[in-house]
Amino acid sequence: KDIILDYANGFVSDEEILRLEPQLKTVHRILYEGKDQNVGWLNYPNEYDRKEFEMIKESAEKVRSNSEAFIVIGIGGSYLGSRAVVESISHSFYDNMVVKKNNIEIYFVGNNISGTYLKELMDVLEGKDISINVISKSGTTLEPAIAFRIFKEYMERKYGRKNSKERIYITTDKEKGVLSQIAEEEGYNRFTIPNDIGGRYSVFTPVGIFPIAVAGIDIDKLMEGAQSGVMEYSSDIIKENISYIYGAIRNILYRKGKEIEILVSYEPRLFYLQEWWKQLFGESEGKDGRGIYPSSLSLTTDLHSMGQLVQDGRRNMFETVLNVISPREDIVIRKDEKDLDNLNFLAGKSMDFVNKKAFEGTLKAHVDGGVPNLIINMPKIDEYFLGKLMYFFQKSCAVSGYLLGVNPFDQPGVEKYKKNMFELLRK
Ligand code: PA5
Repeated sequence: KDIILDYANGFVSDEEILRLEPQLKTVHRILYEGKDQNVGWLNYPNEYDRKEFEMIKESAEKVRSNSEAFIVIGIGGSYLGSRAVVESISHSFYDNMVVKKNNIEIYFVGNNISGTYLKELMDVLEGKDISINVISKSGTTLEPAIAFRIFKEYMERKYGRKNSKERIYITTDKEKGVLSQIAEEEGYNRFTIPNDIGGRYSVFTPVGIFPIAVAGIDIDKLMEGAQSGVMEYSSDIIKENISYIYGAIRNILYRKGKEIEILVSYEPRLFYLQEWWKQLFGESEGKDGRGIYPSSLSLTTDLHSMGQLVQDGRRNMFETVLNVISPREDIVIRKDEKDLDNLNFLAGKSMDFVNKKAFEGTLKAHVDGGVPNLIINMPKIDEYFLGKLMYFFQKSCAVSGYLLGVNPFDQPGVEKYKKNMFELLRK
């Protein structure tokens, strides 16, 4: 009934892990002594502003009552966390025009610069009442800024300047940045991003919580899960702390030449959780010429595309499988009198049963093929366990980055493309 890390097939022994204990204790001290400016997320699930949290719930209710669609404008850490939770918890086809279980459609924009994407979204929004949430910590990121300029005009045209203000929510720094000034100047509703929490560690702050609440998802439960993570993953005794064990194993495997980690899932609804995870680890660890390349596979889908490479390609990778013990829904395969498709051997079995056998078979094949496999067992996909799992990953990532000798909280490399782009745009 909890998140469990199984590393029996990880090609790493307990002795190897324990040998890292002194380094881990140092890392633990660095994290908790708070010397680093960006560790506000560590205890945030316990320390968050309760008043703002209630305001978020009220605003979310308001949006749900006056809007049919909600537009989340943000990029990187400013949208992946909420998207991960919304997609993992909501009905698989919630944004399909036909199924509207959540009563509100959520769209994520400002995470690319494609005019086609925005234009076609506007086609979908035709005739619908909408609200928007612009999320940017720096308040200067180009992708969301362009999307906001376009949507601000769209809203003012649709609702008039005064009435549009009620439908625009800004999540940004308390005072820094252009977005903060705009919010002030225009009198928009606003939520604050704590300045000691970086984008990819911000899912439990208003950055993630507001869109998640608008989607009708229980944010109290999400925070409860995160709180349980804060407690459970706080020990500096490595044997007691699976988030440190995971961080340590990644480090050991990396030193053995395993430079690629694949986060594997057998549930399509976890697709954006995998995207969030890639951003968290990629942006935190990939620097100074180092870092594991985080990638993801959706199985069994990708067994028919990338499976061949994993099985027989270069032995420079390991897998971390997110294994959901109980799926949300299941379907039993029935007996067919004629059995023309020869599937009666599965009669009476559920799809999840078959899915789990596919997982076990794949695991054995990949392990036999020389790919270390770690398994993260998760009882089910709900708010509580997602909160706990995401906190688990944040903690592992910080520890893993420090063990690698990099600063897991900065992203200097991201500036390079911006510089070139702005030069080309003659800013
Ligand atoms: O994790 C990070 O810090 C980044 O991915 C940022 O979230 C991303 O670059 C967006 O930044 P901002 O919120 O300032 O617009």
